Amino acid sequence: MKTVLITGCSSGFGLVTAQYFLDRDWKVIATMRTPREDLLPPSPHLRLIALDVTDADSIRQAVEAAGPIDVLVNNAGIGMLGALEGTSITAARGLFETNTFGTMAMTQAVLPQFRQRQAGVVINVTSSVTLKSLPLLSVYTASKAAVNAFTESLALELQPFNVRVHLVLPGRAPETSFSKNAQARTQSGIPEAYAALAQSVFAGWAQPSEVTLATDVAAAVWRAANEVAAPLRIAAGADAVALAA
Ligand SMILES: NC(=O)c1ccc[n+]([C@@H]2O[C@H](COP(=O)([O-])OP(=O)(O)OC[C@H]3O[C@@H](n4cnc5c(N)ncnc54)[C@H](OP(=O)(O)O)[C@@H]3O)[C@@H](O)[C@H]2O)c1
Repeated sequence: MKTVLITGCSSGFGLVTAQYFLDRDWKVIATMRTPREDLLPPSPHLRLIALDVTDADSIRQAVEAAGPIDVLVNNAGIGMLGALEGTSITAARGLFETNTFGTMAMTQAVLPQFRQRQAGVVINVTSSVTLKSLPLLSVYTASKAAVNAFTESLALELQPFNVRVHLVLPGRAPETSFSKNAQARTQSGIPEAYAALAQSVFAGWAQPSEVTLATDVAAAVWRAANEVAAPLRIAAGADAVALAA
């Protein structure tokens, strides 16, 4: 039985991906900032471990507690919507701490065991906004584009050790709490001069369009974990697949 460690399992893609792997007979280490027993059905193959990807001690303790793993899924992430003019650099740094440096730090923490075993897979969840740019998402897009570039270089660096590295690029998924959480981080991010632009962006999102489901993301992560010849970049969701094509 293989073991996957997934970050950000309290909701959305992380939670659904944890269930997806449990249903397919993997051992799952579902990590959350605040572990909650009521989110996933009890299973002898499930372990909940506390993990904040911005906290070095938390990462060390979680990776120690997890023991050997086969796959790391860097899914934890936060959004931020707003014009750059209205975004503090402190807020931008905070976003990078989670989305970008959190991913790097988690990867660094598991690499010694992967390299020594000459086996392992790292899967980084970024976003289709890196395929087609949208306004008011400059800092978020930068945080994810940095992970794309990081992952592509790292894949080459780890090839000699038989460690695979993949990107999963989901499209827009209104079903998760992501947009609501991102908008909560937005209040001061849209100065008056950008209000009309923001309104047209929100109106565009309200139009019916293809979207990504959490199960699309789980299936893409599953493919990256299990298919030795899977491509480095895997788009997840009908909208993301269309953009990638
Ligand atoms: N939904 C979309 O439209 C969309 C599209 C493309 C890409 N993505 C990406 O997909 C990933 C998952 O998003 P989602 O839609 O599932 O959003 P979500 O429901 O808001 O889930 C985000 C998860 O990340 C966790 N998290 C945030 N900061 C963390 C930290 N410092 N340490 C550990 N965990 C942390 C959250 O935990 P708490 O409960 O503790 O906050 C939550 O479990 C993110 O990387 C996001 O950027 C989302």
